[in-house]
Amino acid sequence: MRYRRMPIEIESPEQLGYDTITNNLSESSVADRRLSDLGLDLDLDELLLCYGDHLGDPELRRLVAAGGDGLHADDVIATPGAAAALFAVATVVLERGSHAVVVRTNYATNIETPRAIGAELDLVDLSFDTGWSLDVAEVAARVRPGSTRLISVTCPHNPTGTMVDLATLQALVELAERTGAILLVDETYRDLTHGVRLPIAATLSPRAISVASMSKAYGLPGLRVGWAICREPRLHEALLAAKEQIVICGATLDEAVAAHVLAARDRVLPPILDDVRARLHIVREWLSGHAVFEWVEPTGGVVGLVRVRPGVELDTDRFYHVLLAEHGTYVGPGHWFEVDDRCFRLGFGWPTRHELRAGLRGLTSAAGEAMRCQPDVVSGQS
Ligand SMILES: Cc1ncc(COP(=O)(O)O)c(C=O)c1O
Repeated sequence: MRYRRMPIEIESPEQLGYDTITNNLSESSVADRRLSDLGLDLDLDELLLCYGDHLGDPELRRLVAAGGDGLHADDVIATPGAAAALFAVATVVLERGSHAVVVRTNYATNIETPRAIGAELDLVDLSFDTGWSLDVAEVAARVRPGSTRLISVTCPHNPTGTMVDLATLQALVELAERTGAILLVDETYRDLTHGVRLPIAATLSPRAISVASMSKAYGLPGLRVGWAICREPRLHEALLAAKEQIVICGATLDEAVAAHVLAARDRVLPPILDDVRARLHIVREWLSGHAVFEWVEPTGGVVGLVRVRPGVELDTDRFYHVLLAEHGTYVGPGHWFEVDDRCFRLGFGWPTRHELRAGLRGLTSAAGEAMRCQPDVVSGQS
């Protein structure tokens, strides 16, 4: 493995220092929560802090499995966050020289871990002009039947917030089955779907692995509880072996708390979703007719990839500098996702609504200050 620190981690707000940012629009989850926010009747004093079940807390796995047709608790392997599940999947499925087809943009790890392994990556670049949509024919054209090991997609997508439809998901599953590849679907934002949720991909085929976690929708990234769902016995065994070699088992305390949260999901999640939709509306209004910025409206999650309209001349270095230095506002610049800095990820779920509005105003003002020769386009509205 050849590890390299990724810009998204080096420049993350927690590394920069939260106290240097007033309006943090760079986060990819809803606001972080305290246990007291969740109204759980937790009594963990008697919880034995033993090495737990290596697959993960049985109740937690039962609750995760209950979310998908035909899933069994033993199909679920709990991991320290989705990050560890993604790492386990990459190291189980790929080795140096293996061929993988990976969508870009993407959650950076989904590209970087296969790279660190030394896999041969075929990147399928999504484009604003096609609504960031995933063209299965383009994926299929890159897949080498019998040789490609991994097809890796994220849905709902980070950083665009877009989703594939059911027919596309089914076509990806069929492609994996036909060519012998494994389909990884990073479903970390699935509980934040704004419309109808897609089925958990692992329910559709033993060749599909689903990954998700408690981090984004529940605002509990500090729990470090995620999971991989896999119905193919040999893959499942290898994923468990990977987990055992990294951590043996998950944190007993974290998994117990996560199980309590999932048990209360029908009470906890709806207000979060209502709040996310209201925030989406705030961003929609800000962007409506904006002279400088545009986006493809997200259909899931709490991030979107905003771009500077073609033809607008913007000094991007100055823009990001002014944005933070003068407007206290931080977003995720394009290079976090291997695209031009004329795009940035805007996270609308994490700041307070007041900070979100102030951050959006800051974006408009910073753009005005960083525009090269169109001083008339500074009010933000076209
Ligand atoms: C798409 C996606 N997958 C996985 C992760 C990892 O999250 P965690 O390890 O906290 O579950 C993230 C975090 O940003 C993400 O955006």
